[in-house]
Amino acid sequence: MPHIAVLTSGGDSPGMNAALRAIVKLAAARGVDTLGVEQGYDGLIAWRFVPLGPRDVDAIGHMGGTILGSARSSAFRTAEGRAQAARQLAHAEALIVIGGNGSLAGAHALGQEHGLRVIGVPASIDNDVGCTSTALGVDTALNTIVDACDRISDTARAHRRAFVVEVMGRQCGYLAMAASIAVGADACLYRERGKNEDQLVGELAELLRRSFDPQRAKLRVLALKAEGVEVSTDRLVARLSAFVERELRGVEVRGVVLGHVVRGGNPSYLDRMIAGRFAAAAVEAALGGRRDEMVAWQPWSSGGIPTEDPSVLRFPLAQVLDETGRLLDGTSPVTRRRVKMMEAYAGVLAI
Ligand code: F6P
Repeated sequence: MPHIAVLTSGGDSPGMNAALRAIVKLAAARGVDTLGVEQGYDGLIAWRFVPLGPRDVDAIGHMGGTILGSARSSAFRTAEGRAQAARQLAHAEALIVIGGNGSLAGAHALGQEHGLRVIGVPASIDNDVGCTSTALGVDTALNTIVDACDRISDTARAHRRAFVVEVMGRQCGYLAMAASIAVGADACLYRERGKNEDQLVGELAELLRRSFDPQRAKLRVLALKAEGVEVSTDRLVARLSAFVERELRGVEVRGVVLGHVVRGGNPSYLDRMIAGRFAAAAVEAALGGRRDEMVAWQPWSSGGIPTEDPSVLRFPLAQVLDETGRLLDGTSPVTRRRVKMMEAYAGVLAI
């Protein structure tokens, strides 16, 4: 019986299980078995395969995390590790890798060095994967951030406090940017703007002064901070606290790092729906002889390889990885657009 292999790798993200469920069922519908690989590339190297039938995945689509487990594999970063991984896949039709940019770079290396048929499915809350407008987990993470900020705002208003709320995203400020607009934050701090610590503290101090001025009399100030901003939340809060102590008596500043709370939880409708459609395109590609490509959600643009789904395109992994690099170093038009939009919003957020 022909079979495909599938693994989840890197930071888990809500929607991975939904993609897994759909892949297993879509492959079964075409008479193809699925072997799940436990613990990402580590499990591939160590031959940790589990047969997955439709019954094994019936009830997983709504679950966060990944039933296969995940890992950031150091062994796979070595040429010997990848050679061993490739040997384990000798009889598979194809490997589907569900993960973020490190995992997709690994998938590309496997395809290039060993000629394996590998198809990527972007999954990372960070939204830092090139050529796709979203990745599995982004929407759920944003919903979690919005919910947390609403809660923080309730208590902040009761005490007339300022909060710095840090959200994950590694080097990418997307989660902080998008959530700032959704929650009506007063400020958004993200690495891509390139401000240093003194500039950030100066801007926030000025924001606090204006917001808590009796003329404006805000009850809460909420600044969303992306993880990639080099100055720590503790340090920002300490410096702002010193400022209010000196100049804005009665105002208090607190910090919250949402951390892994943002990565867990049941996937949203959008993440489940996209997961199912990514899975359909990935299985189609894997069984249709495609290799070294990633499925992408691009409802409005083109440039990729069309699939039967008008919102799902495929892009060569080399192009995806190149664009990912540009997203992070700021040279991608997508990053420039994001920064420009946030600069336009910044004045409004602070009103
Ligand atoms: O890439 C996903 C992510 O959650 C990032 O936002 C974060 O920087 C990182 O993973 C955290 O990794 P770990 O779970 O290993 O601490």
